[in-house]
Amino acid sequence: MKKIFLVQSLFIAILFSFQAEASPSNVRHNLRNSNLTSSSLWLEEEANLSISRILNNISPSDARPGAVIAAQTRHEPNYYYHWVRDAALTMEAVISEYRTRTDANDRNILRQKLMEYLNFSEHIQNVSTLTGLGEPKFNVDGSAFNGPWGRPQNDGPALRAVSLIHWAQILIDEGQTDFIRDRLFDHKKSQVGVIKKDLDYVAVHWREPSFDLWEEVQGDHFYTRMVQRRAMVEGAQLALALGDSKSARIYSRQAIEIEQDLVNFWDPSRGYFIATRNQVAGLNYKHSQLDTAIILGLLHGSLNDGFLPFSDQKVQSTLDHLARAFTQVYKINHRSEIPGVAIGRYPEDQYGGNHFNGGNPWPLCTLALAEAYYRMGFDFSVRGRRLDSKSLLETGDQFVERVRYHAPANGLLNEQMDRNTGYMTSVEDLTWNYAAIISTLSARRTMIFRK
Ligand code: NOJ
Ligand code: NOJ
Repeated sequence: MKKIFLVQSLFIAILFSFQAEASPSNVRHNLRNSNLTSSSLWLEEEANLSISRILNNISPSDARPGAVIAAQTRHEPNYYYHWVRDAALTMEAVISEYRTRTDANDRNILRQKLMEYLNFSEHIQNVSTLTGLGEPKFNVDGSAFNGPWGRPQNDGPALRAVSLIHWAQILIDEGQTDFIRDRLFDHKKSQVGVIKKDLDYVAVHWREPSFDLWEEVQGDHFYTRMVQRRAMVEGAQLALALGDSKSARIYSRQAIEIEQDLVNFWDPSRGYFIATRNQVAGLNYKHSQLDTAIILGLLHGSLNDGFLPFSDQKVQSTLDHLARAFTQVYKINHRSEIPGVAIGRYPEDQYGGNHFNGGNPWPLCTLALAEAYYRMGFDFSVRGRRLDSKSLLETGDQFVERVRYHAPANGLLNEQMDRNTGYMTSVEDLTWNYAAIISTLSARRTMIFRK
């Protein structure tokens, strides 16, 4: 049953593993000279590999079904946990695959993982934790992780709600509205429903300081606000569709207030959006406040509704500042023969996975710039500015080319790329990377089809 779907991925995995025999520099050379040189082809291949890597990391055999592990690595650092954020972003990729696949067997496999994720989410919402729904990560058996950690992280419930809303929309289209009312969004029974529980939490708690997506700083964050806004807007739409106009009004009102707060993150003297305001705890060396979290927030919070579009001057300026800053701080960016710029989390980052001796560029951050430029290109093409759009496609491709350049022949992506040599480093095979590949490809396709 899994066959057709997995055969393709397997074929690609085998293809990659044959190439793995060659030394890294030869492989790069071969790739550059092969016929498969365009960014889009690499992305397509990588996306096929990505979906198989993602499926491998959902419901592993020793976990409660529905656990999405951040990576298989269990030592220094241990990433064998269900992070609420990573899981939601990963399941977004699974949903986008579900939407595009037509083969019934493929869809069944994806559907099962989505249902397991839904059940797992319902379970962990009801586990007693140190910070309730804002708890950032869980043991893979679904029990609470009570060790020291940066908590709460309030992007989690918002992202989880958004992913489940997208799944609910598909189920409604498939005629399963009763199931949604029973399990996901119930405003009449005492059992609130998985989605509504998170939405109500966001509506009540979004003003409270929490830890950022990098789990390091407690305060108010652009990233967290962007995804909270999306949860409120999409939550209001779902509530309305299910006849709960009272909740819809509450969520819509919160969305407007969140927007009013978001504009305060623009720093005109610096010329970019800053990551955090009103810091109350955590790292004290993020002096520039320049952070790829802004771009990730725009991507994961995007509603294409005209609020902070990618074509906005302020967004463009933030992107410019990021590319310039990372060009300066990473030696690997000083080699002019390598395309694009390798992008990290923020310039002052020290986290190297199992040490704090200096941060590195990250594939998922570099891909975020690619995706942002593709989306900006789309915005321009909608307005008929075809030339600008074409050059933005090329800019986006440069960031994809950069990740491709540092990727090993087997296509597997670690959390980080060494700032001096470019080789993959830190946690191997990070699940979130593969979600980033899928969303970057999808943004590129959307842009191309528009042109
Ligand atoms: C682990 C987190 O996952 C990482 O983002 C962070 O930099 C370190 N802990 C330090 O807090
Ligand atoms: C560290 C990252 O900073 C954080 O965003 C992520 O959730 C965890 N690693 C797990 O991948």
